[in-house]
Amino acid sequence: MLRRTLPRLASVKDRVADAAKQAVKGDEHFPALKGHPAAREHARESAENQAGLAAVEEEKERGGRASTVKEFQIYRWNPDSPGRPFLQSYFVDLGTCGPMLCLCTRTYVQFSFNFRLDGYGQVLDVLQKIKSDHDSTLAFRRSCREGICGSCSMTIDGVNTVACLKPVDTDTSAATMITPLPHMYVVKDLVVDMSNFYQQYKSVEPWLKTKRPAAEGREHAQSPAERKKLDGLYECILCACCSTACPSYWWNSEDFLGPAALLHAYRWVSDSRDEYGKERIQALSEGWDKLYRCRMIKSCTATCPKSLDPAAAIASLKTMHQLRKA
Ligand code: SF4
Ligand code: SF4
Ligand code: FES
Repeated sequence: MLRRTLPRLASVKDRVADAAKQAVKGDEHFPALKGHPAAREHARESAENQAGLAAVEEEKERGGRASTVKEFQIYRWNPDSPGRPFLQSYFVDLGTCGPMLCLCTRTYVQFSFNFRLDGYGQVLDVLQKIKSDHDSTLAFRRSCREGICGSCSMTIDGVNTVACLKPVDTDTSAATMITPLPHMYVVKDLVVDMSNFYQQYKSVEPWLKTKRPAAEGREHAQSPAERKKLDGLYECILCACCSTACPSYWWNSEDFLGPAALLHAYRWVSDSRDEYGKERIQALSEGWDKLYRCRMIKSCTATCPKSLDPAAAIASLKTMHQLRKA
């Protein structure tokens, strides 16, 4: 195995502890994570977990009773079986699962930081392990396993996030609880009905709308400065973590569009090539609930696994609407 064939240049524990400190310190040590506090937090957690793994292994080698088995309590409900939902416990040896990283990423991490990445992965690794080795009836969504598709969103220890980016908490003395996104209709286990969410996204017409044809019949041009205005907006993966963390959305999900759809509405209003900004804002403000149900509680921004700021986008839309009225 990679782990055994590569020489250890220093104590794994020390190296990963250094990496964890670097992740906390910030952008100069993890330049790729610049401006992404959620990703930096995940990097820090991952590095700390690797340190935990090294510590447990060292204790085991010394004959101690350290264990890598952790309890996961997972929400179960099957529409075909009568009965109420319940939490089912699974006991998983963390040292035997994940992470689901490609070989080049593992090798990069191994050589760059001199620590291995063959245990203690993300929560999605644990779910895959449970489904393949413990209980194949467990239902959850996933596809890309790298925070791009948005399909593995769920609530992990009370926080909405995507399971493929969330590092496993390696404290084996406490169980990790995994439940579906809150205030959504459950289809089965961790799978929720996203129909209303997608319908609301569709309602903001998330595509380029122009009145004039593109110059010379080609694409609509945009300067680098105009393109930069879309940073922090286009990265949304439609995971619905923000909308389902929003108290206003919980109680008004039929009428209030929610932070995800509104962030996309703002993305198209901000696009220099789009020529329907006025009509878009007009449509959002028809019926007070669509936009103005937002109370600026900012749970959406706090939970976004991509470090986006839907609350700020909504505030900008409101400002634009008020300025147009004035
Ligand atoms: S804004 Fe963030 S939390 Fe909301 S849908 Fe997009 S990526 Fe997910
Ligand atoms: S800022 Fe608005 S959209 Fe975001 S959680 Fe609060 S009420 Fe919901
Ligand atoms: S599997 Fe695609 S975001 Fe998690």
